[in-house]
Amino acid sequence: MNPSTGRKPRLAVLVSGRGSNLQAILDAIARGELDAEIVGVFSDRPDAAALDRVAPALRWSLEARQFPDRAAFDAILATAVEATAPDWVFCAGYMRILGDAFVRGFDGRLLNVHPSLLPRYKGLRTHARALQSGDTEHGASVHFVVPELDAGAVVAQARIPVQPGDTPESLAARLLPEEHRLVTATLALAAAGRLAEHGGQVQLDGQTLFSPLHLDSTGILRPGSRS
Ligand code: GRF
Repeated sequence: MNPSTGRKPRLAVLVSGRGSNLQAILDAIARGELDAEIVGVFSDRPDAAALDRVAPALRWSLEARQFPDRAAFDAILATAVEATAPDWVFCAGYMRILGDAFVRGFDGRLLNVHPSLLPRYKGLRTHARALQSGDTEHGASVHFVVPELDAGAVVAQARIPVQPGDTPESLAARLLPEEHRLVTATLALAAAGRLAEHGGQVQLDGQTLFSPLHLDSTGILRPGSRS
C-alpha cells in the first residue's frame, strides 16, 4: 500500500519481447515482495510473448509499424496507458524509442531497465560493446526515462564481473537474473512511494540521490558509492 494514496500502487508495463522482466515483476507481486497491481501490459508488437504472461483483459497491443510515424503510435499508446491510471509506467524490454510527447505525459513516473552500467553503452548491443571495450564489469541500470535515449537519471544498478571467455550471450544470460532482482527491488521502492525525480535528479525518501543505488549479493538495494 502506498501510504500517501492509501491504495495499491498501479503499475503499467511496456514490453516488446519475451517478457522475463515482466515475469519477475509478476512473481515478486505473487510472493508479496512487491506491493503493486499490474493494471495493463502494453506492446508495440502483438506477437510479443510477454503478452501471454498476463490475463487477456490486461493486454493491449498494436503493430507500431503500421502507424505513419512515431508520434501517431505514441499518441494512441499514451491514451491506452493513461486510461489505466498508472502510478508508474515501467518499460520492461520495450524496444521502441518513446517520443517526447509520451515521455512528457508520464514525466516522473516512467522507468526503464537497460542492460548496461549507464552512462556506458546507451542503445543496443550492450553486452558485445562491454566485451569489445575490455570491461571487467558489466551490469544493468534502472533509470527514469527522458526524451534522450537511455539518458535519464539512474536510480539503481546491478553489477556482475566479466569472466574470461565470456560471449555476449553468456554475459547476457548471467546478467538477466540480476536484472530481474534489480527491477523488482527498484519497483518496490517506487511502489512504496519512496522514489521521485525532480530536475533530472533521483530523490529517495525526499533526499537527492547523488549516485545510483546498487544491488548487493542478497538482492537488497544499498546506497551507491560509485557512479
Ligand atoms: C532485457 O535485457 C532488457 O534490459 C532489454 O531487453 C531485455 C528484455 O528482456 N532492454 P525481457 O523481454 O524482459 O525478457
